[in-house]
Amino acid sequence: MTARTPLIAGNWKMNGSTESSQQLISSLCSGVSNDGDRNMLLCPPYPYLHIAAEALKNKAIMLGAQNIAMEPDSGAFTGEVSGLMLKNCGCQYVIVGHSERRALYGETDEVVSSKFIVAQAQGLQPILCVGETLEEREAGQTQNVVRRQIQKVIDSAGSTAFSSAVVAYEPVWAIGTGLTATPDQAQETHSFIRSLISEQDATIASLMQIIYGGSMKSENAKELLSMEDVDGGLVGGASLNAEEFLAIFQAA
Ligand code: PGA
Repeated sequence: MTARTPLIAGNWKMNGSTESSQQLISSLCSGVSNDGDRNMLLCPPYPYLHIAAEALKNKAIMLGAQNIAMEPDSGAFTGEVSGLMLKNCGCQYVIVGHSERRALYGETDEVVSSKFIVAQAQGLQPILCVGETLEEREAGQTQNVVRRQIQKVIDSAGSTAFSSAVVAYEPVWAIGTGLTATPDQAQETHSFIRSLISEQDATIASLMQIIYGGSMKSENAKELLSMEDVDGGLVGGASLNAEEFLAIFQAA
């Protein structure tokens, strides 16, 4: 047994409307009790953060964002949203380095580590996403890719920064594809990630939450979440359905 509390995070991506967001949040609120055994986090699109923050007041569900500007201060950065703004909106977490941002918006390890640092400077917990493509897995490169992605953050932010961060292992080939890593595949990489941090600081490594993402759903959640180093989930598609997401939460 570890002291790590499971975290089930919903990454809504670019989905929903004002109305559907309100409905989803209200269904989730009625299904979640504050027993402290596990935590739920919602990451809606920016325009719904305020609505979500209002609806989650005094509720046992936390709020996070899907992205953050890499610039630390306000200024002429059209279209960007700063860490301070996210904090003002009631966010406690922010996803950085999601594979969609890396692949579609050209975010490099460098950019991702800047975002990680800027998030922490505002008191937001970064959820650092790492993971390999199918090509990389087939070439036996999974550990090298994950090591490179994490090492960049260790080099820039220092390993102690992982005492207030979450790592999400999201094999790119499993995201939105219906393909899920087997519990053993997930465990293997999660334990590798923990060992990378452990080389620097064993205590931080043992307390750090490492969550899994990639087609997690109610039918596979229990098995994945029962693995020793799988401390929760970053759930995309299945987080848009209250019943499904609550079932994953219950499985944790
Ligand atoms: P998915 O997405 O659950 O739809 O595969 C997970 C993610 O991208 O965070």
